[in-house]
Amino acid sequence: MELLKESLVLVHLAGMAVLVGAFILNMRRKNDFPFTAMMWAAIVQLATGILLVGLSYALDDAPDNAKITVKLLLATGVLVAAMLGRARQAKGESKLQPFFHTAGGLAVINLVIAVLWNAELWAF
Ligand code: HEM
Repeated sequence: MELLKESLVLVHLAGMAVLVGAFILNMRRKNDFPFTAMMWAAIVQLATGILLVGLSYALDDAPDNAKITVKLLLATGVLVAAMLGRARQAKGESKLQPFFHTAGGLAVINLVIAVLWNAELWAF
């Protein structure tokens, strides 16, 4: 069970790297955004994240529900923005920067929340 959990964390971190990496590397672009990679990475984040939540209950180590809810909403926002941008880009539309920056920005916020939203870190 522990090995399964750590393997899921590995895939979760790889998905995060693709998502945040695609954003940072293409931040100055004005067109041809990597929406497809971001869409699949967001799907990986949602799938592995939900499985990790299930596993932590199975391992009697319940996660912080407020943190998980916020992460779930933000990751859904990433997916929706990437899907909308991808569909519009396929139709040849321009001015898709807001979709790219929404998807990438929400992913970065989720990364910060994942690492810094930890009650023990803020107990002085
Ligand atoms: C853009 C989306 C996401 C990003 C960038 C992200 C990022 C991360 C990172 C960096 C970690 C490791 C944190 C650490 O161990 O200090 C993590 C862990 C975790 N994430 Fe996500 N995450 C995302 C979406 C989600 C979603 C949607 C869920 C659940 C619905 C989720 C559930 C979890 C759980 C349960 C862990 C803890 C694993 C453990 O116990 O070590 N994540 N996430």
